[in-house]
Amino acid sequence: MSDALIDRIAAAENLAELDAVRVALLGKSGEITAKLKSLGAMDAGTRAAEAPRIHALRERVTGAIADRRAALEAAELERKLATEKIDLSLPAPEIVSGTVHPISQVMDELAEIFADLGFSVAEGPEIETQWYNFTALNMGETHPARAMMDTFYVEPRTAGEEARVLRTHTSPVQIRAMEKLGAPLYVIAPGRVYRSDSDATHTPMFHQVEGLAIDRGITLGHLKWTLETFVKAFFERDDIVMRFRPSYFPFTEPSAELDVGWSIEKGRRVVGGNQGWMEILGSGMVHPRVIANCGLDPDEWQGFAFGCGIDRLAMLKYGMSDLRAFFDGDIRWLKHYGFRALDVPTLSGGVGA
Ligand code: DAH
Repeated sequence: MSDALIDRIAAAENLAELDAVRVALLGKSGEITAKLKSLGAMDAGTRAAEAPRIHALRERVTGAIADRRAALEAAELERKLATEKIDLSLPAPEIVSGTVHPISQVMDELAEIFADLGFSVAEGPEIETQWYNFTALNMGETHPARAMMDTFYVEPRTAGEEARVLRTHTSPVQIRAMEKLGAPLYVIAPGRVYRSDSDATHTPMFHQVEGLAIDRGITLGHLKWTLETFVKAFFERDDIVMRFRPSYFPFTEPSAELDVGWSIEKGRRVVGGNQGWMEILGSGMVHPRVIANCGLDPDEWQGFAFGCGIDRLAMLKYGMSDLRAFFDGDIRWLKHYGFRALDVPTLSGGVGA
């Protein structure tokens, strides 16, 4: 009899079946429970003989159920471990992901390089007043430089209001930063600028970065060192040669354009070496009148400034040839030239890493 019970327990294939067997044997109306109950109706002699037998049976059955339960649970765990295994060496599935536009990437690189030199990032509006875009920058109403800029004018909202402009350069941010933050001041201002001009190397919207340092005792030497440090960090090369060429900008005196040497590598023009010169930015010592226009005393505060086209920097560094493709939004171009969102530029990794 008892071996038949043990066989029933062993035959339970899962925990639910085992529990059904347990109830059938040990539950309130189970077979063994019934035997235990029957002890009370026996005479003393029979009970003395039967009681140890029935109790022993109950012990055996209880033990067999516990063993079977442990075995079933272990088998269940094995099955889970076998089927729920994750192979961490498998390549992650290809997910559709966007890319960081080269212009955004270069702006992040610039912020990283100049942050290391103590410059913070300043901003200004793209629809700008003529005061900030021209007048405060020492370009009075009749100044010929105003006509040279191919400016987009914005219709005034009310009659009599002066027309505002789409800013033609990032230089107005110099004025806004000086007014807001005072001196000493070290800022760069990357952003969009607009001029009515369109061909293979010009788009009506393009990008510039402005740099401005205002402090006591600032000299042309500070400007030169800053630009050299910037160009070497940005192009990640030490064999960069530079020359300053005297130039003219209304908001700087003296003014200079910066040329860098280029060479041909693998059929492509790259910065570095000295096969020829190309201009990459305009710069100079901030005109005392500009400093005064911002409410600072030019006898106390001096500064240098520079302005540089970002699109051209990106083309030179990453090898694109047509500026217009930057703004076509062609997904194939973006996949090819874009950057992964995790490629955050750091100086230690090389800003273009
Ligand atoms: N704003 C000038 C332009 O768009 C570039 C420039 C030249 C900016 C000299 C400066 C500077 O800050 O000092 O052509």
